[in-house]
Amino acid sequence: MRSFEIPFLALLTGVASIPHVRERDEPQLFCGFQAPTDNDVATISRLKQFDNDYAFSKNQGILEVAEPIVVEMNIHAALPSDTPDDYASKEILEKQFDILKTTFASYGIELTLGTISRELNDSISNLSGGKYAGKYGQLSGGTPALEDYWKRSRTGGYKSAHLFLYRQIDDGFIGISSFPDLERPESEFWLDSVHLVSQALPDSSDTIWNQGKAAIHEFGHWFGLWHVFQGGCSGEGDMVDDTPAQQATHYGECPTDADTCPSLEGLDTPFNYMSYGGDACFSGFTDGQVARVHNMFHNIREVV
Ligand SMILES: *[C@@H]1O[C@H](CO)[C@@H](O)[C@H](O)[C@H]1NC(C)=O
Ligand SMILES: *[C@@H]1O[C@H](CO)[C@@H](O)[C@H](O)[C@H]1NC(C)=O
Ligand SMILES: [Zn+2]
Repeated sequence: MRSFEIPFLALLTGVASIPHVRERDEPQLFCGFQAPTDNDVATISRLKQFDNDYAFSKNQGILEVAEPIVVEMNIHAALPSDTPDDYASKEILEKQFDILKTTFASYGIELTLGTISRELNDSISNLSGGKYAGKYGQLSGGTPALEDYWKRSRTGGYKSAHLFLYRQIDDGFIGISSFPDLERPESEFWLDSVHLVSQALPDSSDTIWNQGKAAIHEFGHWFGLWHVFQGGCSGEGDMVDDTPAQQATHYGECPTDADTCPSLEGLDTPFNYMSYGGDACFSGFTDGQVARVHNMFHNIREVV
């Protein structure tokens, strides 16, 4: 019974039933936010000209914005029934909130704490079975249990933020997010959320995603940003002017001198939250991204 040796040991030590460190050949966990839809492109094309109205100034290192964004953040974790108490605990979920709060505060975005819930429920702890519109870009539904869960948990208006955590998401995704949409009807707000695997919470033993910054990346999408490598070296890229075009994703890597679009201005920015450099690498948003986020929030999330 050789094949039972490892799980049995795992049972004895009591912790290894939660897989932590990715094996060398284990799949990488990518963000599920893929190509923007034509509708997203049209929205940004129209709003982009107003970015400058939302540019901010810095006074002795303090960001000054005309009108700060205030967002209520809610965190919901659904975990398998055999999850130990110290896995994705309330303390860890609070720490995830603090990381989001501190990070976004430096960009003129104030996060207030709504609810933090942690539920052991096998029927909703695995987001496999999600339905996606287009190629993964947007979650458009799930199993009946998941839809029930989202509808009972995703309270508040369109500017209310919700982070859902699961033990697993389809196809090895680290997380997915919806994008601000002027046409989103109130009857579909339950589809407007960030979804993340619990493996990406702070202090996990994951080798790439272990400081709670994957959540910052996903909320970057929720606030209206695309990946800095969107479109590679061609076209309008991510449609933000001060993020250099980038062909490579630099998954889990942090080169400071990479230039994968050599004919275009600027070096790659794997350390941008909207790249894939990973938690040890991620360090900030650009001024252009921050102006875009403020523009999108005041003109979409606050008015829908
Ligand atoms: C999640 O569901 C998928 C599809 O049913 C399955 O392959 C996977 O093992 C499940 N993950 C967990 C952690 O239960
Ligand atoms: C698990 O979540 C589903 C979906 O919301 C719900 O119907 C069910 O009652 C929950 N189970 C428990 C034990 O709370
Ligand atoms: Zn992403």
